Amino acid sequence: MTVHFIGAGPGAPDLLTLRGRDLIAACPVCLYAGSLVPQAVLSHCPDGARIVNTAPLDLDAIMAEISAAHAAGHDVARLHSGDLSVWSALGEQVRRLCSMGIDYTVTPGVPSFAAAAAALGAELTLPGVAQSLVLTRTSGRASAMPARETLTNFAATGATLALHLSIQNLGAVVAEVTPHYGADCPVAIVWRASWPDQRIIRATLGTIEGALPDGIERTALILIGPALAAEGFAESCLYAADYDRRYRPQSAESPWSEWREGDD
Ligand SMILES: C[S@@+](CC[C@H](N)C(=O)[O-])C[C@H]1O[C@@H](n2cnc3c(N)ncnc32)[C@H](O)[C@@H]1O
Repeated sequence: MTVHFIGAGPGAPDLLTLRGRDLIAACPVCLYAGSLVPQAVLSHCPDGARIVNTAPLDLDAIMAEISAAHAAGHDVARLHSGDLSVWSALGEQVRRLCSMGIDYTVTPGVPSFAAAAAALGAELTLPGVAQSLVLTRTSGRASAMPARETLTNFAATGATLALHLSIQNLGAVVAEVTPHYGADCPVAIVWRASWPDQRIIRATLGTIEGALPDGIERTALILIGPALAAEGFAESCLYAADYDRRYRPQSAESPWSEWREGDD
């Protein structure tokens, strides 16, 4: 018996990996985080599957479901929104499974920051503008931030920021990062990225609070940084006509001239 943790993606049911879909179809038990996992993903469950929304359950109750499936020899599909590597509660569940001697696998999903960038049609790392993306959040009722993981510290780098779980703290976010990025710095809020009612609000740090319509809460990402509206950035060397590289040696003297695909 195995518990298959599966990233269910940002919301659109077709943003699920083929591996995730096939695992869901093969498991007689499906536990899903109902607050964000779309119902349509559950249509891949086999007929007669036990399907449990874990949103109202605590960790002990979730583990009791897994123990019961283990006793029956039933594999479990465990669905969380987006990808499992961030804010998924994977860590604590895996720790319990290890102590119970239960096997597990992890199948990645499309994270919400990637769905938000896709909705914006934007690359978040542009040459000479930003080469790092910080996935972070602000303190919430359930989780305090570690002392050194302040927005001030992240903002000091000038990197693109992707703030999760923070739309309710927008005013504090703006106040903390504006000294580093300036009031003209572009901001994009993507609400329900990839859902049918997705909304995008583009503004600057100076205007975003006034631009936020009513009803934009919970499932929203705040993206901040100059890369969001940069135009005069340099092209990457990768596709520059004169850039000497393994796949495109520029001369017989190139260190890559003897290299053939499959050599390494
Ligand atoms: C508990 S975290 C889950 C993150 C998820 N594991 C991921 O890979 O994106 C929930 C937060 O992710 C963000 N989020 C999740 N889905 C989203 C979506 N479709 N559009 C915008 N933000 C989303 C929101 O900031 C929300 O508060």
